[in-house]
Amino acid sequence: MGVSTVRGAEFLVVANRLPVDLERLEDGTERWRSSPGGLVSALEPFLRSRKGAWVGWSGQPDLDVEPFEDEGLSMHPVRLSGADIRDYYEGFSNATLWPLYHDVVVKPVFERAWWDRYVEVNQRFADAAAAAAGKGATVWVQDYQLQLVPAMLREQRPDLHIGFFLHIPFPPVELFMQLPWRTEIVRGLLGADVVGFQMPLGAQNFLWLARRLLDLEPSRAAVKVRSRPGSVPFEGRHVRVGAFPISIDAASFDAMSRQPAIIKHAQQLRAEMGDPEHLLLGIDRLDYTKGIDVRLRALRELLVAKRVDPESVAMVQLATPSRERVDQYIAMRRSIEEQVGRLNGEFGRVGRPIVHYLHQPVGREELVALYAAADVMVVTPLRDGMNLVCKEYVATRRGLDGVLVLSEFAGAATELTSAVLVNPHDLDGVARGLERAMTMDPMEERSRMRTMHRQVMTHDVDRWARSFLDFLDPETAELGEHTADHTGDHAADHAAEHAADHAADHAGAEPAA
Ligand code: ADP
Ligand code: F6P
Repeated sequence: MGVSTVRGAEFLVVANRLPVDLERLEDGTERWRSSPGGLVSALEPFLRSRKGAWVGWSGQPDLDVEPFEDEGLSMHPVRLSGADIRDYYEGFSNATLWPLYHDVVVKPVFERAWWDRYVEVNQRFADAAAAAAGKGATVWVQDYQLQLVPAMLREQRPDLHIGFFLHIPFPPVELFMQLPWRTEIVRGLLGADVVGFQMPLGAQNFLWLARRLLDLEPSRAAVKVRSRPGSVPFEGRHVRVGAFPISIDAASFDAMSRQPAIIKHAQQLRAEMGDPEHLLLGIDRLDYTKGIDVRLRALRELLVAKRVDPESVAMVQLATPSRERVDQYIAMRRSIEEQVGRLNGEFGRVGRPIVHYLHQPVGREELVALYAAADVMVVTPLRDGMNLVCKEYVATRRGLDGVLVLSEFAGAATELTSAVLVNPHDLDGVARGLERAMTMDPMEERSRMRTMHRQVMTHDVDRWARSFLDFLDPETAELGEHTADHTGDHAADHAAEHAADHAADHAGAEPAA
């Protein structure tokens, strides 16, 4: 890393976190490491290949870091104080918006002081982006922490092309309407030229709300224009709205899973766990939306009912530490660790626990080796914008073995329809899903994985980013041309692909990748 001389970036990402987090070690030294979460996993490889710039927080309080270069990417750190972290990040972002946007899985807290700080910090990010962006640049603002930035940035820099993408679900109208600052949030987002969501339903909810809340504003009546599908009129512009399901750098996961060292490591991992007949895997940030408790309870039910032999099964659950000072996260961690202890206490034996639980991030090689080793990937969120973990698993299954158990409430379920889909609110259903995955006929396993593997390999993060940025580009973005793609659903495509794959299986054809 070196000090940056780059100013006036042509392409800028603005996100709450930089792609690298500053870690303070116990001996007082510091090091940069990869930031947690799907946003960074998805955007970092794309942005590095574009040599763009990134505005974000370093992950530490009260830290002034000068702009620097990291492998061709120009980083522009934004300072957050301890109070900013408490009120803007842990408070409004993660105790108000996060639960509200995830179907109020826990009760959102509405605090005026948190909102005030959210406004203040969003302004700081907008100022930093305005200072870093060159004339006429493209600025891509990311996620729920920064929903006011598009309007704040437009105010200062009307020359910019501004896109906004929400990585988490956009909630149903009746839930969003609970938010005391709902109009301000919608107005903030409408500062963008394009507002993107993971799912068509999120885009539709936003369009409906924008129209409704703007109609409630008498001062907007003068500029009221009849809305067109996929866009909303605002302050003399048409703000385009669409769905852009995010994805992963699929080729890199595929390539890594074929490296001899990783294959060997995957075999070693299995051997160290006693070569179980069924190796189950869960990989998540430790978040209450992820349904980690649901899958542990379902596994326990199968063991209690003797539907699964404890000698035949092992599970690895990786849980990256996340938002550790937010009350709900503290309570959830305790409950999950109790469940792991109980399962191991009841069904493990010395040297052979049922659940191998790690509360720590692991490196990319270790992650891919675990994907490669697992027979069943268990992804059971109560609600998830997309969920990249399931796509990462599928990308490593070039051999077409392995079963994905996937929640219907993850955005990825609309694409990965050949997974064993489960309702995470239905404990019996999740237990049946796990049992089905462990007993699936290899022909069926192969057929399902082939369809999913093809989908993930052909719909990667590069395609996602290009489709968003083409839509944002005034030269290529003819309204109507893109709308159908971005607000429609893919069910028909999948049905056709599935039929083709089924035929290929019976003809013994090679996997398509
Ligand atoms: P979210 O964005 O809510 O965290 P996603 O499933 O979309 O959820 O993305 C999570 C990302 O974090 C994935 O790229 C996954 O590989 C990575 N990840 C999750 N847990 C770990 C871990 N313990 N170690 C390393 N990477 C992890
Ligand atoms: O995609 C969801 C998301 O909240 C990202 O915005 C965020 O960077 C990531 O998960 C990790 O969360 P946090 O930044 O709060 O650790």
